[in-house]
Amino acid sequence: MSEDGLFELELVQPAVDDAGPRLVGPGAVHVPGWLTPVQQRWIVERFGEWTRGPVPLRAATLPGGHQMSVRTVCLGWHWQPYKYTRTASDVNGQPVLDLPDWMVRLGRKALAAAYTTEVAADPSLAALAGDYTPDAALVNWYQDGAAMGMHQDKDEASHAPVVSLSIGDTCRFRFGNTQTRTKPYTDVLLRSGDLFVFGGPSRFAFHGIPKVFAGTAPQDCGLEHGRINITMRVTGLS
Ligand code: SIN
Ligand code: FE2
Repeated sequence: MSEDGLFELELVQPAVDDAGPRLVGPGAVHVPGWLTPVQQRWIVERFGEWTRGPVPLRAATLPGGHQMSVRTVCLGWHWQPYKYTRTASDVNGQPVLDLPDWMVRLGRKALAAAYTTEVAADPSLAALAGDYTPDAALVNWYQDGAAMGMHQDKDEASHAPVVSLSIGDTCRFRFGNTQTRTKPYTDVLLRSGDLFVFGGPSRFAFHGIPKVFAGTAPQDCGLEHGRINITMRVTGLS
């Protein structure tokens, strides 16, 4: 299937447990069930293509030598601790794939959806949607047991919102505050198809993934196990 029309639906799918959109912090919005199963399966197919290279999925090594349990492939810009580069100089030196146009359009729809929901209506953030042009996407792959510690997404020079999409196994997403990696925070279950946007006053909030619930991926999402997370960002770099 081509991407034409695939992401044109404005429909927000009825979410699991009838949970509606939720404001988790100022500018931080969880929209359950935003991607349809057809869209999820299509993205899973693209994921398969992205992992074939030129840069493979890799677990980044943090300063100090700790290797992350999450493996990542990047689009647009390559992220490594703690900077963006044009080539994957910490992997194989190859340039990363372009960030596809459909993802830019999807990012705009995501912002528009998140910031016009009743719980999170924010005209000043919604107004950003039309011009939103993410130039980097980190595509994370969580296998059984993978987790991600509390961190800020702060290697970007831009304050534009981060758009996050989840496919596959359900996870616990911990969304905190901008000051410390500890409490107060809110734990949110991100399920297959969910959208989470954090911008405005929450753009630099600490967040992490303490747990992925193995074996919870719905049958129709295109993944039998594991979890894919895509975060789109505006690097502000040139
Ligand atoms: C991240 O913070 O980069 C990933 C978040 C997620 O996997 O949902
Ligand atoms: Fe992050």
